[in-house]
Amino acid sequence: MARIALASSASYVDDPEIKVLSEALAAVGHEVAVEVWDDEAVDWHAYALTVVRSTWDYTDHRDAFVEWARRVPRLRNRAEVIAWNTHKTYLRDLAEAGCPVIPTAWDVTDEQTLVAHADAWRLPVGETEWVVKPAVSAGSRDTARWSDVDDALAHSRSLVEAGRTAMLQPYVASVDAQGETAVLFAGGDYSHAVIKGALLAPGEGVRDDRDSRERITPTTATDDQLDVARQALRAASQALGGGLDLLYARVDLVAGPDGAPQVIELELTEPSLFLPNVDGAAERFAAAITTTVNSLGRV
Ligand SMILES: Nc1ncnc2c1ncn2[C@@H]1O[C@H](COP(=O)(O)OP(=O)(O)O)[C@@H](O)[C@H]1O
Ligand SMILES: [Mg+2]
Repeated sequence: MARIALASSASYVDDPEIKVLSEALAAVGHEVAVEVWDDEAVDWHAYALTVVRSTWDYTDHRDAFVEWARRVPRLRNRAEVIAWNTHKTYLRDLAEAGCPVIPTAWDVTDEQTLVAHADAWRLPVGETEWVVKPAVSAGSRDTARWSDVDDALAHSRSLVEAGRTAMLQPYVASVDAQGETAVLFAGGDYSHAVIKGALLAPGEGVRDDRDSRERITPTTATDDQLDVARQALRAASQALGGGLDLLYARVDLVAGPDGAPQVIELELTEPSLFLPNVDGAAERFAAAITTTVNSLGRV
């Protein structure tokens, strides 16, 4: 039995996943508290383990969030993982390690640069759909799909002018029919996978919400998907010097133009783990938490 904190943002303490995980932890004898990460009154030292969960409002306060993570003892995932993973430039580290990632250009503000990237990616500029999104984001906030290059450029520019890092990617066409596959790991082991339906509709403009939840269907990861997911986790470990000791990980994959998996996102910070969607998933995460608590010792 241990005291465990699940860290949330104030608006998501009632998230269904928090409830399911709390029940699974209570069932194996742990005492669980849901705590708000930026609540100054919380004594994080009182917990044997703090698990980052529904802290989705951090995207407006990333520096404060990373500072908080550094202050909390016995935090999972670890603060250094969170510092690296809350900015999507981590995708560069994955690509540099040879992991297949959706082609991405950063801070594009003029047409010439966009055309140069399109040429390098062998994409006809006029017939391509684009995604523009900020490098610090969750739940598709400030993300959009554009068929007009000028719209894509205007969006990218507006992010850059607001002092943010803008990402430009080709819209991966397979997402419309096949969605993306989230591959979930508990304590380093593959646990389960789900398919998430497409989120960005053509012509919808910039999104500002995280509450329009995707359609979720349980699935089994293919060997190819597992290979790429594990490659992404190895690349993360390499980028951070090893010893990450990940309690949870989610690797989101899409089928690239040749059908092979590409990483769209590696979520080591506050991923939805889709515990209510898959039988046994919450119990597996509770078991991984118990293993972590035992390895840390009691308080
Ligand atoms: N290049 C892309 N091609 C197709 N769909 C995309 C692309 N980038 C983002 N999306 C869609 O937008 C959603 C949010 O983007 P994502 O990169 O996962 O950021 P986050 O989930 O952190 O907001 C994805 O789940 C997917 O539906
Ligand atoms: Mg995502």
